[in-house]
Amino acid sequence: MRLRRRKNQTARMEKAADWLISEWQGKTDRLLVELGCGMGRFACETAEANPDVTVLGLERVPEAILIGMEYAQQKGLCNVRFILGDVIELDKMFAPGEIDELYIHFCDPWPHWKQAPRRLVARNFLRLYRPLLALGGTLRFKTDNAPLFAFAQKELAAEGWTVTHCDPNSPPEAVMTDYEAKFRARGVAIGALTAAP
Ligand SMILES: C[S@@+](CC[C@H](N)C(=O)[O-])C[C@H]1O[C@@H](n2cnc3c(N)ncnc32)[C@H](O)[C@@H]1O
Repeated sequence: MRLRRRKNQTARMEKAADWLISEWQGKTDRLLVELGCGMGRFACETAEANPDVTVLGLERVPEAILIGMEYAQQKGLCNVRFILGDVIELDKMFAPGEIDELYIHFCDPWPHWKQAPRRLVARNFLRLYRPLLALGGTLRFKTDNAPLFAFAQKELAAEGWTVTHCDPNSPPEAVMTDYEAKFRARGVAIGALTAAP
């Protein structure tokens, strides 16, 4: 995601800094982590609707994450936080078995075959996620990109994950990401799956 620097970005990041963490050290009954959370709409709205869970949004673009931090601050949401960083460093941010649900929504498809290892559902990433998931933990993936949806299923099968739910034309859910809302408004089919390691 390429975004222009926000007006007064540094000051605004500082003002909302309580919603930014570098690694998870807290305690919670249920930890949900969204990878590549963009502007944090899903993370914030999920936290708002589920006060008993903690939601963490990980994103590498500060211009995007700032919007989520500010929304959470305005709403006084105590159970959502954001991490500015790269998914590749996930094992430095979380301890083994710590994450209950991992969400990947509309990740970059990296269409060229040589770019496959950059896709967040590629086997190299699945190997990173597996030990971080709690017993009974799941990975939830959504995309508008049919080849990427097929690729995710292939990678999950190759890594021995169990797909417990798979729908290439999934119905809308109560909480959507910005990308999902945009694609659904255009009538694009959204593939959704849930998998367990
Ligand atoms: C296409 S956008 C989707 C944003 C959001 N998930 C949604 O559905 O509205 C993909 C997002 O993932 C982020 N992203 C991609 N690769 C990442 C990585 N390796 N680490 C952290 N964020 C990443 C991008 O910066 C971008 O904000």
